[in-house]
Amino acid sequence: MAIIRKLVERNKLFFRLLFLPVLAVLGVVVNIAIKLIRFFYRLQYIYDWGLRDKHPNHFKHLTNLYTWSSDPNRNQFATAPSIARSYLKRGQKVLDLCCGDGSISFLFFSDIANKIDAVDVDRDAIMYGRKKFGNDKIVYHDTDVFKFLSSVNETSYDLIYFGSGFDYFKRCDREALFLGLLKKMTSETTLVLKTPISSDESYMWGQEEAQSDFVKSEQELIEELSQFFNLVQSREVQYSSRSEVIAVCKKREINT
Ligand SMILES: C[S@@+](CC[C@H](N)C(=O)[O-])C[C@H]1O[C@@H](n2cnc3c(N)ncnc32)[C@H](O)[C@@H]1O
Repeated sequence: MAIIRKLVERNKLFFRLLFLPVLAVLGVVVNIAIKLIRFFYRLQYIYDWGLRDKHPNHFKHLTNLYTWSSDPNRNQFATAPSIARSYLKRGQKVLDLCCGDGSISFLFFSDIANKIDAVDVDRDAIMYGRKKFGNDKIVYHDTDVFKFLSSVNETSYDLIYFGSGFDYFKRCDREALFLGLLKKMTSETTLVLKTPISSDESYMWGQEEAQSDFVKSEQELIEELSQFFNLVQSREVQYSSRSEVIAVCKKREINT
């Protein structure tokens, strides 16, 4: 290394002149490649959400990652996981409920968590997650959340992330789900939940088959969650296409 550094120091002008055209050519190639990648993900998005008979149950967040640098509307996927991440400490255990494509577990938690159980009932989502967002920290479970909660050996988690899965359950089923989650929480566990809100019944045009019972306001969500959890914070976050509520909760001791 020292020899190379000396050589470069002595011939700086030569290397600068050599680098400039190489960088210029590579810059053109990389720009074309980036445009092609964005184009591919936009096409895939149009196919999934505009052309298929049945829309997918989950979103492929690679679309967000590859198009974000040219489209600020793509930041939506990162807000709630970032808040969840701020509660995570090195070596902790995470439960990613309704994990979808697995990107949230991988990108936001797997660098410092010890273990992540990522659960989704959609086999395609889990297979995709294993392939694109797999590592030795993430254990993917291709199963229904109720079956998972009643069979898993873990007695508790440090962080539970429940992103955009809330409205896939009818209100009565959510009660059973929240009671199940409480059994996997200690007073130290943090639950971070996000869900879209809207007073317009038809706004979820893309996932009408999947989504059954969404809340219409932050207040409605707070009232429901307060029956099971102590609310640490909640906020409505606005995006160009919709609003979401992000809630951070702790365990509440309730008599069942
Ligand atoms: C909108 S996606 C959210 C995915 C991911 N959490 C995210 O934020 O991108 C909702 C996910 O919930 C899953 N889901 C719905 N009902 C479920 C159930 N009973 N058990 C496990 N997963 C379920 C769907 O398969 C889908 O992948």
